[in-house]
Amino acid sequence: MFNKNKPFNELPDLPPKNNLETPAIFKSVIKANKLLAELKGFCQTLPHPELLLNTIVLQESKESNAIENIVTTQDELYKATLMGNDIKNQSSKEVLQYREAMYWGKEQLKKNNLITTNLLIGVMQRLRNSSEGIRKNTGTKLANPANNIIIYTPPEGEQIIRDKLSKLELFINDESMSELDPLIKMALIHYQFEAIHPFSDGNGRTGRILNVLYLLQQELLGLPVLYLSRYIIENKSDYYRLLKEVTETGNWENWVSFVINGVASTSEMTLVKIKDILELKSKAYYSIRNEFKKGFSKELVDLLFSYPYIKISILEQYNIAKRQTASEYLKKIAELGWLHPIKIGRDIYYSNYKLIDVLSR
Ligand SMILES: Nc1ncnc2c1ncn2[C@@H]1O[C@H](COP(=O)(O)OP(=O)(O)OP(=O)(O)O)[C@@H](O)[C@H]1O
Ligand SMILES: [Mg+2]
Repeated sequence: MFNKNKPFNELPDLPPKNNLETPAIFKSVIKANKLLAELKGFCQTLPHPELLLNTIVLQESKESNAIENIVTTQDELYKATLMGNDIKNQSSKEVLQYREAMYWGKEQLKKNNLITTNLLIGVMQRLRNSSEGIRKNTGTKLANPANNIIIYTPPEGEQIIRDKLSKLELFINDESMSELDPLIKMALIHYQFEAIHPFSDGNGRTGRILNVLYLLQQELLGLPVLYLSRYIIENKSDYYRLLKEVTETGNWENWVSFVINGVASTSEMTLVKIKDILELKSKAYYSIRNEFKKGFSKELVDLLFSYPYIKISILEQYNIAKRQTASEYLKKIAELGWLHPIKIGRDIYYSNYKLIDVLSR
């Protein structure tokens, strides 16, 4: 029996016995798959998707961390992207670590397309910048962030946690385990991972990276562009309540619907966002090309749209121009209205404020 104050070592393995192919779920699964496929297809037509991706992943990193109350302002964060190892702002540091963890996980997945316990541990270690592994200490409890009242006590004991993770691993990677639609499976997997809660911290963030890695593994996405964090922030109390209801009352249906509706609305929103960015970029391209004529490089515009904040040394780094010329370029682009100069210490940064506006919309 579940008792929120005692380690839930009886947490059942997936899949649940509930019928999850109800007409309502089925209908939203079809809709979400259609929108997701549209997003995937559109991304395949992009000439340099990695550049655009960088900013989208950065935005997701910010939002996923915000769920954990690691809040950073756009400004701090974009500044931090240009600081290398010199970042003072702790939240920005964590946000950038999250992005690294995501990219790392994506690279690992390329090896054998398996999502393993070790992969998840690696992701958690990178996003927290910690060498900790599976939780060994006792007494981990989940409390409502609003009032600190305990809502859930995850399983305890390293071996028990490892066993549950290897069952989850099997469910993720072995398709013969269940014939459910991958989007339904993603919802099950996210709950299960959170309920196992294998780490002392970073479970929510690792679980949200797991979602996107799973979409990549299932080839529902070719690039990691779909992130539920914004949707979770906007529906945070539902997110917590529905996770809780699965444990307490076995209400899987509402949880699954919640996740799938999130995939649908996020796919739609992401597609609009990418199109808006491309439109903006294309306008910038023509306007800058017109002004520059000689010396214009397409790579420069690409760069402006992969760094929401940019500075002279980035142009040098990418061999766009030497210092003096690079400085003139950025000044000129700012005069055209595409960048805002900001003086920070002895450096001048230029913000692509129009891009930032689209990203945070
Ligand atoms: N009742 C619940 N049962 C299982 N998991 C839950 C429950 N309520 C919340 N969670 C999960 O626990 C996460 C918080 O755990 P933890 O602090 O280890 O992760 P985090 O990444 O540091 O935090 P956050 O998810 O808030 O960013 C939540 O994000 C959510 O995914
Ligand atoms: Mg935490």
